[in-house]
Amino acid sequence: MSSPVEAPTITILTLFPDMVQAVLETSIPGRAARQGQVKFAVVDIRDFAVDKHRTVDDTAYGGGAGMIMMAPPIVEAVESVRRDPEATVILTTPQGETFDEVMTLDLLNDLQLKGELILVCGHYKGVDERARELVVTREVSIGDYVLTGGELPALVIVDAIVRRIEGVLHNEDSANNDSFTTDRGGGLDCQWYTKPPAYRGLAVPDVLLSGNHARIDRWRREQADQRTTERRPDLAPVTDPAEGETRSGEDEI
Ligand code: ADE
Repeated sequence: MSSPVEAPTITILTLFPDMVQAVLETSIPGRAARQGQVKFAVVDIRDFAVDKHRTVDDTAYGGGAGMIMMAPPIVEAVESVRRDPEATVILTTPQGETFDEVMTLDLLNDLQLKGELILVCGHYKGVDERARELVVTREVSIGDYVLTGGELPALVIVDAIVRRIEGVLHNEDSANNDSFTTDRGGGLDCQWYTKPPAYRGLAVPDVLLSGNHARIDRWRREQADQRTTERRPDLAPVTDPAEGETRSGEDEI
């Protein structure tokens, strides 16, 4: 009997393990873990503090407001969980590369190739530069705003990755049709309706009730393109007179 392939492991190193654990047990990530499609490990960085007060931060050399996360607990926590020295270790920080759906697929590929992905939740004012130099391989930001800590960004990244693991979403199309996915050409999704057919004078567009699936598909594509043009012109389709319609944003400009 062949043994089942082991699920890839996502490990999150944090100062708030209960917060992270609660989210990972909920909704799609929780179901994916229960179905054995991914494994989660949550590690308390404080367990790697070297003093009896479990100190993980201190004031900055040279002065300045704010506490800095110390290098040794982070480095030792990473080394205790990392199976392969080549594993990707992400630090969540506003200074990182901006996260998007392309990076999601890149990190999913990395997870499946190496069997592990490690995320370190940054905190306080920052992280001692030596932790970055010694164990961090990639720094990721979820946008140009500053959050209290790296837990929410790490959970955003993990959620986005896990929902793209094949078989996690019951209807595969519901991932492929999402905004930013390749089926949407990297653009936004169209609008959606469910029962009732009319509500407070607002009717569901006739085409969706027509039963004509070719017409419905065409209408949805047009609506998605229109929405993208209106709301996110940076992702909008462009028309190349030589080649017809393609999405902008990469090579075309
Ligand atoms: N930590 C605090 N703010 C952050 C952000 N925007 N992205 C990633 N990590 C963060």
